[in-house]
Amino acid sequence: MRILSGIQPSGSMHLGNYLGALRQWVEGQSSDAFYCVVDLHALTLQIEPEKLREQTTDLLATLIAAGLDPEVCTIFIQSQVPYHAQLNWLLECVTTYGELSRMTAFKEKSQRQEGFRVGLLTYPVLQAADILLYQTEFVPVGDDQRQHLEMARTIAERFNNRFGETFRVPVGTQPKVAARVMDLQEPTRKMSKSISSPLGNLHMFDAPEDIRKKISKAVTDTDGEVRFDWEKKPGLSNLLEIYSSLSGETPEQVAGRYTRYGELKTDLSELVVTTFAPMKQRYEELLLDPGNLYKIAANGAEKASDVAGVVYRRAANAMGLSG
Ligand code: TYM
Repeated sequence: MRILSGIQPSGSMHLGNYLGALRQWVEGQSSDAFYCVVDLHALTLQIEPEKLREQTTDLLATLIAAGLDPEVCTIFIQSQVPYHAQLNWLLECVTTYGELSRMTAFKEKSQRQEGFRVGLLTYPVLQAADILLYQTEFVPVGDDQRQHLEMARTIAERFNNRFGETFRVPVGTQPKVAARVMDLQEPTRKMSKSISSPLGNLHMFDAPEDIRKKISKAVTDTDGEVRFDWEKKPGLSNLLEIYSSLSGETPEQVAGRYTRYGELKTDLSELVVTTFAPMKQRYEELLLDPGNLYKIAANGAEKASDVAGVVYRRAANAMGLSG
């Protein structure tokens, strides 16, 4: 079962990244699973070179600390496998400006950036290249990536129709709960590395006192009844989904055990603290030896290149390129 997914080195990982994506990655890891730190995608942000390097190192440590085992799956850095950028170009030539400019993420992000970069527009094509290069069957991602996944499927189908059967058409997978973790302060908006307020965004490796503070201050409602109801109680339902995702119960079962928001918040804080404490310790140890992290990434890039090179050449030949 071929799996590929990616994450941007654009800041420390939050609970949404972990519950929506990374946990699925850990569960699905095998010799057929490829996970990449998408540093080329991060160039679409305003990011200092030093910061990008630091965040890439940090993310490698986070992925391994969260349970990805480089002996089991392939962990690599996107820019270390040049086929990603190469296939990106080929795929840009089968994608239209119209379909890219209609993507929701592009519309939102281009409004926030003055003189936005072309990379922001073509971002989903590079993502399609990431996926299609590995003949991927399943792409474990959070709910916010659905549209990008659809684009990758469209590009694969179009390419196959025009140039002959080349790519497998991938399928996105989301977890049953917590596929879209919301901002703790604005529960109608997703938790996000780039725009959440400091109190709205819970990082995996926040200090325990910050975790407690953020959860205790999480916005709920005033009617006081503990019930799972996204429409009427988005703040509380978000907390219930996070809880349920960590405890393995359903959100309704969790809700049934509480009569007061305060008790639910206290127990949830402890659950989050105890879940991440061992990972945090491992993360800090791993960061002491960045050389080892880059050795792991270089091995991963070698394995990834073996697979990606074959697929790239097949696609290039299908289009009539001689290289
Ligand atoms: P990125 O770096 O924004 O997020 C990484 C993963 O975390 C998930 N996620 C969430 N899940 C639940 N709730 C949230 N609030 C939340 N926020 C983020 C995302 O869905 C994602 O799975 N474009 C991608 C990176 C990418 C990629 C790929 C993914 C590049 N190439 C190929 C899959 C396959 C992105 O920006 O993810």
